[in-house]
Amino acid sequence: MRKVINKTLLTLLLFTLFGNDISAQDLMTNVYGRERQSLNGKWDAIIDLYDQGRRNKIYLNKKPEGKADFYEYSFDHGLRLNVPSDWNSQMAELKYYEGTVWYARRFDVEPQKDKRLFLYFGAVNYRCRVYLNGTEIGQHEGGFTPFQFDVTDVVKEKDNFLAVEVNDTRTTDAIPAMSFDWWNYGGITRDVFLVSTPQTYIKDYFVQLDKYKSDKIDVRVQLSAANANVSVNVEIPELNVKQSLVTDNQGSAKASFNVKKLQRWSPDSPKLYDVIVSSGNEKIEEKIGFRNIYTKGEDIYLNDKPIFMKSISFHEEIPQRKGRAFSEADAVMLLSEAKALGCNMIRLAHYPQNEYIVRLAEKMGFLLWEEIPIWQGIDFENDATRLKAGNMIKEMVMRDKNRCALAFWGVANETQPSAPRNEFLKYLIQCCNEIDTTRLITAAFDLVRFNRERQVFFMDDPFVKELDVVAVNKYMGWYHPWPIAPDKAVWDVAAGQPLIISEFGGEALYGQSGDRDVASSWSEEYQARLYEDNIAMFNNIPNLRGVSPWILFDFRSPFRFHPTNQEDWNRKGLVSDQGYRKQAWYIMKEYYDKK
Ligand code: GCU
Repeated sequence: MRKVINKTLLTLLLFTLFGNDISAQDLMTNVYGRERQSLNGKWDAIIDLYDQGRRNKIYLNKKPEGKADFYEYSFDHGLRLNVPSDWNSQMAELKYYEGTVWYARRFDVEPQKDKRLFLYFGAVNYRCRVYLNGTEIGQHEGGFTPFQFDVTDVVKEKDNFLAVEVNDTRTTDAIPAMSFDWWNYGGITRDVFLVSTPQTYIKDYFVQLDKYKSDKIDVRVQLSAANANVSVNVEIPELNVKQSLVTDNQGSAKASFNVKKLQRWSPDSPKLYDVIVSSGNEKIEEKIGFRNIYTKGEDIYLNDKPIFMKSISFHEEIPQRKGRAFSEADAVMLLSEAKALGCNMIRLAHYPQNEYIVRLAEKMGFLLWEEIPIWQGIDFENDATRLKAGNMIKEMVMRDKNRCALAFWGVANETQPSAPRNEFLKYLIQCCNEIDTTRLITAAFDLVRFNRERQVFFMDDPFVKELDVVAVNKYMGWYHPWPIAPDKAVWDVAAGQPLIISEFGGEALYGQSGDRDVASSWSEEYQARLYEDNIAMFNNIPNLRGVSPWILFDFRSPFRFHPTNQEDWNRKGLVSDQGYRKQAWYIMKEYYDKK
């Protein structure tokens, strides 16, 4: 008996500790290239402020039968919410709501012999439990990465009842934790699909150019089962490539091969190739680009030429709608404005954004920096938090590793030096490298200070040596008054490594004019002058290899209390919440056009 108990306890402990990890490993690659049925649309919803729903098993969706029966809930004919979308932007009463909301919908499934069915969520913020036909089929934590559950044995042909318990209450052990400078939009915020695959299917593949060689493509394929001697084909018709691979006893196969006349992807020429991965009667297609990106000394090389990152950040938010961005049309709006500004890179703040944005950015020619929300106050001493962060970054890398636009994996934003932080971030870098070693690892720091004796800006955080590229958030002229004339400001930061200014800027209320020397004027003139000053400073940073203004659009944040200048908005946007360009936008545009 003792033996059995120990085994059970160990399994329970492992599942509790690593439960999420399993779902991260099970992510199938390229859901958008697979056979799927959309479950998007109007879902029924119940607001569960005191978390009574699970206790009352409302996911059973019981109906009264006998005369004495009654149930104090019903999912029918009640509140309805759009999926995908956050709940905050759908009802005035939910603007500030933080807690549990139940979503539910019914669906039928076309009977398909010998197929497996997966329930896929593009993202749910922040944590959720999923129930299908009265059975809990899984949980997920993390508001910005996809997950899926195998529902083959639970799903029926008719009248399936799917319930999702979503909670977005902030907790100290979460990622992000208790406070962050963006709106805590809760809900099923991205696409929901039923994905069908063969019994044994192509679960994962990696098809990218070698990190350094311009004519060598590396391919890895993983089946969903450890079946040996299965043949898998990888084709790139335009390059006359048809690679036949055979799986080993882990169900995996890999190959490297040379190609001729490859047109490498770049922002100026975002060439994508049709790639077909097939095995048996399963065929998955997607467009994949091939490029080399690496650092040498203080330079970042794209396709063997030094590149300057003309970047911008935006949150995954449509300001006019005061809600999360989630659709292809939303991606077009955000990225068109970045293209108009003359950017060749986007720093997707501060969390993995939806796949429409990532795929369209690649198609339009933007290099991407993606990060998980390790944002200021993370509990670096909490082992469970570390494992959650590892799971989150693996889900991000698993999803986007075939996107050649992805140039940077960001592991942190504005963390303070400490041994626990160093261990935590080294673990995240290791998690990235387990899946992909071809991107540049970076992190943003707000530790640059002005040394009065030396009259230089400097930074002291040895952790930067763990990174390929060092990034600095520095708000000269906003949070930090100028200690020296901008054009006299000399930087001695991360010498020997490429440096990116990953955030700079200041606030202005669109249409508010005022004194260009007074920050509290919150005027477009002041913001414009701030941009002129920062650009003057950039010319004195010897290893500067990119800048990324904070931020493209005004965005919502509970941090921002000022009753007329902010009203729950962070006004650092170059474009207002109504979509109008401020004076500073034109200054940045001119700087990028001249670069
Ligand atoms: C920080 C942080 C951003 C924040 C910005 C600001 O650097 O990284 O998330 O929005 O400053 O204060 O506006």
